[in-house]
Amino acid sequence: MFEEGSILRQRYGEENVFDLSIGNPVMEPPVEFSQGLKRLVENPLPGMHRYMENAGYPETRAAVAAQLSLETGIKFSVNDIVMACGAAGALNVVLKTILNPGDEVIVFAPYFMEYENYIDNHGGVAKVLPTDERFIPKLDALEAAITAKTKAVIINSPNNPSGAVYAEDVIHRLGELLRKKESQYRIGIFLISDEAYRKIIYDGLRYPPVFRHHPQSIVITSHSKDLALPGERIGYIAVHPNCSRREELVDGFIFCNRALGYVNAPALMQHVVRSLQHVTVSVAEYQKKRDFLYGHLVEMGYSVVKPQGAFYMFPKSPLEEDVAFVKELQQWNVLTVPGRGFGSPGYFRVSYCVDDRTLEGSLAGFKKVAQKFNLC
Ligand SMILES: Cc1ncc(COP(=O)(O)O)c(C=O)c1O
Repeated sequence: MFEEGSILRQRYGEENVFDLSIGNPVMEPPVEFSQGLKRLVENPLPGMHRYMENAGYPETRAAVAAQLSLETGIKFSVNDIVMACGAAGALNVVLKTILNPGDEVIVFAPYFMEYENYIDNHGGVAKVLPTDERFIPKLDALEAAITAKTKAVIINSPNNPSGAVYAEDVIHRLGELLRKKESQYRIGIFLISDEAYRKIIYDGLRYPPVFRHHPQSIVITSHSKDLALPGERIGYIAVHPNCSRREELVDGFIFCNRALGYVNAPALMQHVVRSLQHVTVSVAEYQKKRDFLYGHLVEMGYSVVKPQGAFYMFPKSPLEEDVAFVKELQQWNVLTVPGRGFGSPGYFRVSYCVDDRTLEGSLAGFKKVAQKFNLC
């Protein structure tokens, strides 16, 4: 889609192409970020560009631990946190640490398209399970799918691509189910929660922390979306303080950060985000974009579950063949992504972390296609 977008832009001009295919935040980082960066550059710390502990600076890990303690009501310490190169780096470190060849990792469709690659990177086998009509994991399917080889379950809420946010009750029941299966098979099952969009959540919802519902839980996240810093590759891994064999696990993360060649998360960014743990881009602005696009798509007759977080929506494809439908939109220079890329054919993903001109400009194409397929 990225290349397709470049070709279309060359052919029709930047202003006539409406690229809703990529999750690259349109917003600039909050002002506190540039202030922090400027302060640091003007007052450099001795040795601030040198190698460091592979886990990251203790001061940064302590700041993350303090923020997590505040958000979850569970006491985290510096020893529960490992800084990583984005959420992607964090997930690869976790999977490298916990997986033996042939171990199963359960994911729920629709899912972030890289999960299968990352699981495969470390010799695991991805098992894809369905969600319900609101994109919430089906726990009866999970119960049936767990075997003695299950090493982890990955969840992602707010979800890319659906924007679904899992309610506390769902996470609670998920935790109960995992513990039941752990004792049935005498194994440990990690709940890996990908919280890349944890702070981008709408309608006054509060984020229910997984840590309260399963001691074998590991959170991976980054500041790619909440501080709009995807190019800076800064994120972290947090382990439940009561996770069994926690020390061994964290040692594994630290070792794998090295062994995978990340070595440590970027030094400059660790210095800056240390004081930004409570800061987030304007969620209200994303909510405004969601409301605008959702309102128009529904009015045109598209079937969409209203997203409660992240910056994507995942409407039903009016054609069974989602790739063909995405091509129809492309005829009007509107770029989206077919659902099959996320393990859910029959849908398409629209990314609304774009400027208002692009969102507004895309409506004519959505309308033409809606008319063609008699949605109105
Ligand atoms: C659900 C999800 N997880 C992980 C990532 C990777 O994030 P990062 O850029 O911080 O590595 C993304 C990026 O879009 C994502 O959508």
